[in-house]
Amino acid sequence: MSGNRKIKITDTTYRDAHQSRMATRMSTDDMLPVAELMNESGFWALEMWGGATFDSALRFLKECPWMRVRKLREKIPEPGFMMLLRGQNILGYQHYPDDVLEAFVHATVNNGVNILRIFDALNDPRNMEPAIRATKEAGGHAQASVVYTISPVHDVEHYVETAKTLAGMGADTMCIKDMAGIMTPYMGYNLVKEMKKAIDIPIHIHSHMTTGMALTTYIKCIEAGADIIDTCISAFSGGTSQPATETAVSILEDGDYDTDVVLDNLTEINRHFTEVRGQYDEFFTPADIDVRGLIYQVPGGMLSNLRSQLRAQGMGDQWDEVMEEVPRVRKELGYPPLVTPMSQIVGTQSVLNVATGERYAVKAKEVRDYVRGLYGRPPAEISEDVRKKIIGDEEVLTDRPAELLEPGMEKAREAIKDYMQKPEDALSYALFPEQAMQYFEHRKVHGE
Ligand code: CO
Repeated sequence: MSGNRKIKITDTTYRDAHQSRMATRMSTDDMLPVAELMNESGFWALEMWGGATFDSALRFLKECPWMRVRKLREKIPEPGFMMLLRGQNILGYQHYPDDVLEAFVHATVNNGVNILRIFDALNDPRNMEPAIRATKEAGGHAQASVVYTISPVHDVEHYVETAKTLAGMGADTMCIKDMAGIMTPYMGYNLVKEMKKAIDIPIHIHSHMTTGMALTTYIKCIEAGADIIDTCISAFSGGTSQPATETAVSILEDGDYDTDVVLDNLTEINRHFTEVRGQYDEFFTPADIDVRGLIYQVPGGMLSNLRSQLRAQGMGDQWDEVMEEVPRVRKELGYPPLVTPMSQIVGTQSVLNVATGERYAVKAKEVRDYVRGLYGRPPAEISEDVRKKIIGDEEVLTDRPAELLEPGMEKAREAIKDYMQKPEDALSYALFPEQAMQYFEHRKVHGE
């Protein structure tokens, strides 16, 4: 119907959906049979790269991650290709030098991934600005993100102010990224309403069905003015993944909205992915609803990791103590959002505090780096007392962390000169030296 507001749909089947429910194991060969249908289904974009896919391709699939982009692009010229980029962390867990980031972003856009969703675990805009700038220079679409979490300092104002800063840096669209699926529909509504007043770029909502709310949250956010949502094909939807595309499109088109999505195509696409998931049984996780994220305000994935960590250390009976310690440590560390790598840092330190019986007697290296400012600016002040316990009188870095780093591209090229087949190989090595080298060895014998 004309006059209806157009809602754009990004399908995440090729990235977040199988990362969330199938341990990121889908191979390019399993993506290609429905590529033409994906091309013709009216999606604004396909999220198909970044996150854990790069590492997983090299490590488990022995695939060149750059080859995946080219093969998919050949068959899918129409929709945007989106990737998830961890700001200055690119696709890894630490900060990379600016020259590596810039080279990576340019190669990404040149290979056909034209929308870069950029986030930082601390919502520190300084860690996103170089990626936004490089994306624009390369001719790509820079989507900045705010990571959604719950804490006394993460109020509507925090997100709106961060969004304003990021829009001022040249972001083309703004994503509210709720990786734990804990943004309630009414919180989402208020947040989008206020953000809409403050910035004039489209707002994209990303959530997960983990606690069962994401689809409802999408609808409320759309009512408040959100422009784009993330969904995936039903075979991979639900649980820790996104809501189903088929369901979301049907709901919207019955209201005062249009999507361009061609529902008829999705039946065939879903048939294919239902078959694919059957071949990866050992990696497939059920689509259960897990409300622990709402009760503990700790993402479900982090709870599962903590539980196995405790069991492995014979601390299974100290679960309750650790569950009390996690929010305490998080508060003392200035309320970092519990997303990679902060979820691991807070989790590990909490376990150490309980295990030793003396808080901060033993410190993880990463927690020291975090307190020294090497990850960026914490959302709130770190407790003075705890800072002293962790780093004593050591100086705290107030500059952007990557300023400290030596350039890395020349070194990477030098290190792999006997293996280099394409310029992108140096980037694979700069990001994941060990996995890339193993892949290059494999490629020497078996070819691409
Ligand atoms: Co996600």
